[in-house]
Amino acid sequence: MKDAPGRAPLDNPSAGMINNGPMKTWTFSDIERLIARFPRVELIHLPTPLRKLANVSADLGGPEIYIKRDDLTGMAFGGNKSRKLEFIVPDMLAKKADVVVTWAGLQSNWAMQTAAAAVRFGIRPILVLFKTYPLPPERDGNILLDDILGADVRIRDAAVGKLVGVEAALAAVEEVAAEERAKGHRPYIVPVGGSMPLGSMDRPLGAISYVLAYREMLEQTRALGFDPDFIVHSTGSGATQAGLVLGAKALSPRVKVVGISVSDPKDSFAKEVLTIAKATEKTLALDTGVSAAEVSVLDEYIREGYGIVTKEVADVIRMLFTREGIVLDPVYTSKAFIGLLDIIRKGVIPRSSKVVFFHTGGTPALFPNKHKLVEYLA
Ligand SMILES: Cc1ncc(COP(=O)(O)O)c(C=O)c1O
Repeated sequence: MKDAPGRAPLDNPSAGMINNGPMKTWTFSDIERLIARFPRVELIHLPTPLRKLANVSADLGGPEIYIKRDDLTGMAFGGNKSRKLEFIVPDMLAKKADVVVTWAGLQSNWAMQTAAAAVRFGIRPILVLFKTYPLPPERDGNILLDDILGADVRIRDAAVGKLVGVEAALAAVEEVAAEERAKGHRPYIVPVGGSMPLGSMDRPLGAISYVLAYREMLEQTRALGFDPDFIVHSTGSGATQAGLVLGAKALSPRVKVVGISVSDPKDSFAKEVLTIAKATEKTLALDTGVSAAEVSVLDEYIREGYGIVTKEVADVIRMLFTREGIVLDPVYTSKAFIGLLDIIRKGVIPRSSKVVFFHTGGTPALFPNKHKLVEYLA
């Protein structure tokens, strides 16, 4: 490990929000070396592109916004989950699983990506999906893809606009796993989003991939001659933010990571992200001393609830598509982009700064939401 002096916190309204801890930094090769100890399968195309949103940045009069295209990871329409699965699938294989059981919301990107990765390795996917969206019953979007993959989809009722609690969900998947064990199978239970170390995944393997994604992004911005001031992205089950926060803390402590929650209140989410970040730190032996001060979650953009499409969502999808040719999804990245625009408007992100927005994928969910989108955009 290399000791190096960090930079002073930014002088702006949100300074002090995160990253004021002891300033020790690691190198790109330190991160690579620590992560290379974890088995990995190749599922996706890396690095994902990073490019400037030139029109939107000009329209706003700053800041300079760049987009990290993790929607272009390449497996099954792309997205952040496939980065995580590169580290989770080897654990399924090491534990000799022949079935993977996971849970999520009805139109889950995570569940579909897990199924797509698992079937390639001869592992049968069972997806317990909670009906958290008021959607028509037709097979469309991710559920259509689940069907094409031949995944065993089990739909359960749930409260609309809310993610199902971990305990209830774990109980549901444990029941399925017990049935599989009774039939002589070896199920691997993986928690929603591949985030919390739970079930068969006893280490935060998903978050590790986002420490590496941070390193990948920073190499790209440095090639363009800058370190970003802010990273903004959507937070759902926490590992993306945990990995990015840890990557920032290790490599560029001045950079602020802002997670936009799509489902849970900021306090409970921040706690969860910190738990995952600390577990990741321990698993990697990357002793950054990550603390609550580095975890910034905003929850006001959940609006009417998880997965509920509003006119604001439809408008921001149209805006980015027409101005930049990039399609956001209606559940995660649209709400994160709404949050980004709002914190720019409020001056939390100064116009003079540089921002990287992580596009984490999810575009298949556009199609089952077509009726609402058409209605709002008419
Ligand atoms: C498209 C998309 N973006 C962002 C997220 C949030 O990532 P995480 O679950 O790691 O917080 C998810 C999943 O929850 C997702 O499917």
